[in-house]
Amino acid sequence: MNSIAMYSSKGGVGKTAAAVNLSYASSIRGKKTLLCDMDPQGAASFYYRVPIKGKFNKKQFLKGRLKGFIRETGYPGLDLLPAHFSFRNLDIALDIDGQDQLKNIFAVLADDYDVLIFDCPPNMTLLSEKLIAASDQVVMPVIPTTLSIRALAQLMKFFDKIGADRKKLRAFFSMVERRKNMHLDTVKSYRKKKVFFRTLIPYLADVEKMGINRTPVAVSTPGSAATMAYDRLWMEIWKRRVSD
Ligand SMILES: Nc1ncnc2c1ncn2[C@@H]1O[C@H](COP(=O)(O)OP(=O)(O)OP(=O)(O)O)[C@@H](O)[C@H]1O
Ligand SMILES: [Mg+2]
Repeated sequence: MNSIAMYSSKGGVGKTAAAVNLSYASSIRGKKTLLCDMDPQGAASFYYRVPIKGKFNKKQFLKGRLKGFIRETGYPGLDLLPAHFSFRNLDIALDIDGQDQLKNIFAVLADDYDVLIFDCPPNMTLLSEKLIAASDQVVMPVIPTTLSIRALAQLMKFFDKIGADRKKLRAFFSMVERRKNMHLDTVKSYRKKKVFFRTLIPYLADVEKMGINRTPVAVSTPGSAATMAYDRLWMEIWKRRVSD
């Protein structure tokens, strides 16, 4: 089972859009995929029209009772673990020690899925730390601006501080606007660095409209530039996976 976190301490950079579209791309390419909505705002669950089932909450989650709460998305090979509002306090309920707490919780799914994708909330907390530890790849969307590049450098330092392996950190340029010189210059300067995937995700109306369509772009606009960009990015992520 390969686990991939869509993570950035910055808000609104395209984590959820990526988590939704990449999980779909993964399932279409034959991998049994589970999208885990770790953000109490529940945006990924909203996009897939998946409400909470039963008595799922933070307590159940921490006891490792996940299986009964996983929902089908209606798309073959793609399931979703919905977010719960109580996840907003997940941080204070986690063990201060026990680096692998979340890794162990998700390990019960190893025989059921090829790919886990975590849609992470935008912060740098104990939850982020444990999601990073639970992931084989941590993928950060970076809007090509100076501040976002700075956030990537900060994340590298955070990795060192928490003893995470920097080799599992990757980034991609997100919401790239070709008419903005700053975007083009930043992409040009950084794209060849090893931490970056070659594929970039342009700023596209089809992605914005996901909030109205509530489907991945590959369903609402098959063959579109957005669909192809996320599919290419998925292929790159899969190629650079660490484990099987
Ligand atoms: N490539 C894109 N082109 C156009 N709009 C985009 C793109 N990616 C994301 N958006 C839009 O930008 C907004 C923020 O995106 P998204 O919710 O994916 O970011 P996020 O990093 O998950 O935010 P948060 O930190 O609040 O969870 C959304 O309205 C989304 O539709
Ligand atoms: Mg989000």
